Amino acid sequence: MKEIYLNWGTLAKTWPEVLQKMQDYENEYEVNPTISLFNTWERVWKVQCEVADFFQARPQDLFFRHNVTVAMNDFLMGVQIPAGDLAMTDLEYGAVANILRLRAERDKRPLHLVQVPVGEELQSADQLIDLILKQLPSSTKLLLVSHVMTGSGLKIPVKELARRTRERGILLAVDGAHGPGATDLKFDELDDVDFYGGNLHKWMRGPKGTGFGWAPKRNHALMRPLMATWTTFETPERFTGFADQEIWCGSMLMSYCLNWSAFYALSDTIKLWQSKGKNKILSELQARRDFVQEQAEKILGFKLLSPRASALQSPLVTFELPKTHVSKNYQIIHELQAQKGVTVSITPLKETFALRFTVHVDLKNEEILEGLNRVRSYFFE
Ligand SMILES: Cc1ncc(COP(=O)(O)O)c(C=O)c1O
Repeated sequence: MKEIYLNWGTLAKTWPEVLQKMQDYENEYEVNPTISLFNTWERVWKVQCEVADFFQARPQDLFFRHNVTVAMNDFLMGVQIPAGDLAMTDLEYGAVANILRLRAERDKRPLHLVQVPVGEELQSADQLIDLILKQLPSSTKLLLVSHVMTGSGLKIPVKELARRTRERGILLAVDGAHGPGATDLKFDELDDVDFYGGNLHKWMRGPKGTGFGWAPKRNHALMRPLMATWTTFETPERFTGFADQEIWCGSMLMSYCLNWSAFYALSDTIKLWQSKGKNKILSELQARRDFVQEQAEKILGFKLLSPRASALQSPLVTFELPKTHVSKNYQIIHELQAQKGVTVSITPLKETFALRFTVHVDLKNEEILEGLNRVRSYFFE
């Protein structure tokens, strides 16, 4: 039985061309690891410039991390927040929500949970933003939201939300685990956002262990690195190939012994997106998510949790897990894979669980249909 992968949103399959390059770079690095390491900083900076250019950011406002969880730690634990409260939505990803819980505990600050509805109840971007803002006490100083909600696929209009939070003097930290590659992410339009962490191993299909943080220059002075290393204060001569023009950038660099080949292959990831056409990939993703939603509703008949308003949609399509299967939750992932050769995601959502489908451009409609029919046979036969 051919395996059908319907969970590109947890970890995507890296583009085969990129995987090959990553393996080549890894082997090249090993020929002389000392020289490779010394040459690394200039090369990482070059890659950082390419990634920044793709997302219309200043390279000096980015820093690489292995994933978004680490970048969100840099922000949520490392930023100076004026005296006051913290807030996040009730749809945040558990690991990242825990970072803010830890910060609230460390600072002894109140942490407020903003209720965000799912599915049909959400009709427009304005309604959603008003709903979020009106739940924030006036003492709120920082709000954490995901760009795309892991359990409902809701895409938050971060540009408009950021404009409104900035007006109110609230720092906005965005967990963009599903931002790059699933949305048309352009930082030159997001200047009101205060902190943004992104993953490159999900929708961008870059090497595993690649992600980044971004903060506009006005916020650099608010952050102290969580981890000290060679470039924390000054930039010693052997690191000058890396962004010697701005100290913040150096202070955020992971300047320690490491094989950086995964990050080198981001250069190939970006080139691949450019040659295939970013807009073409994004519109193909949109077409697939529409197909998944339409067919899954027909075939499974579960309650849709993703929004129907197109401005709030992302490539993640989720349904409420039937009550009969809630107690099994994550076990369903293993059973479906073992019994039916289909991989999906089960994600916690408020008091229950969602069944989530995420497909990338490699999948043809026939394969998606076959996958959904196998899911149906798992639940109903
Ligand atoms: C919204 C959200 N935030 C954060 C993460 C964590 O990603 P990572 O484990 O790559 O840091 C995920 C992973 O699925 C996610 O969906």
